[in-house]
Amino acid sequence: MKKTKKDISRELGLEAGYISGKYFLKLDHLHYGYWTSDIEVDIANLHLAQDKYAKFIILHIPDGVKTILDVGCGTGHIAKMLLDMGYHVDCVSPSPFLTKRVRELLGNKSHVFECFYEDLKTDNRYDMILFCESFQYLDMEQALTNTNKFLNIGGYSLICDVFKKNTQSNNIMGGGHKLTRFNDLVTKFPFRLIENVDITEETSPNMDLFSDALKNVVYPVINDGVRLLESRHPIALKILKWKYKKKIGELYKKYLSGNRTGEDFKKCKSYQLFLYKKDAEESKSL
Ligand SMILES: C[S@@+](CC[C@H](N)C(=O)[O-])C[C@H]1O[C@@H](n2cnc3c(N)ncnc32)[C@H](O)[C@@H]1O
Repeated sequence: MKKTKKDISRELGLEAGYISGKYFLKLDHLHYGYWTSDIEVDIANLHLAQDKYAKFIILHIPDGVKTILDVGCGTGHIAKMLLDMGYHVDCVSPSPFLTKRVRELLGNKSHVFECFYEDLKTDNRYDMILFCESFQYLDMEQALTNTNKFLNIGGYSLICDVFKKNTQSNNIMGGGHKLTRFNDLVTKFPFRLIENVDITEETSPNMDLFSDALKNVVYPVINDGVRLLESRHPIALKILKWKYKKKIGELYKKYLSGNRTGEDFKKCKSYQLFLYKKDAEESKSL
């Protein structure tokens, strides 16, 4: 699979998220936080909510699972928790930057496939394939085809991610496959739904924090930069504004129009955990 411009900007976004999250907030993970009533919704507590999320995932691993493929393993910290619990874990990581961190963290305890999951080639078979907030980045059909191929019969697929609801409201919030499309597609595979938990409520506070950071940090910093350019290079600024008028307008609308709160998230997104079991029969009608 050739990296598209979208893949590259997502990859850079995740790298920037990792670098700033690690530096300013000591974050280990790249997923949302799972906010329960005992954690105050505050950016300083994001690491606690992320740990809760990791524990929530681990709690849903069925008995009998021994080997796990962690697809889109991010920084490798969930894989590390799983290895420490005695599971055999391999990882898939298409980002050279993140792969380097994962290899530093896991050493030779885990094999890291540095590729898109859609392109993965291996004779290995696993008891569970984990998609921890990575499913949204994948081509769904190819991801499910590969999951069917790489799972042992009787194995499980655990997908925990954000999906788009079938609603017209607030389409400026990107991310996630359409839930209806996912539900339709998955019926074509020999996967039986074992568990489905909706965690939209527990994950939505992340959007309030993100929205707050945009309003109180990103926007003022950008404004200061614009004012600096205005005083030093007014003509260059005018040219830039004119040349990128459309793009700037789109970015402002997307990130700074104030429509990215937890309440907006709940209207248009659904954050779900799905646990499927692969039954004996082969793929149905693809
Ligand atoms: C939001 S991060 C989640 C990381 C980690 N699972 C966690 O919970 O912290 C998304 C991950 O998906 C990976 N990813 C993106 N596109 C992918 C693809 N096509 N195949 C495999 N992984 C992919 C990224 O490199 C990143 O590791």
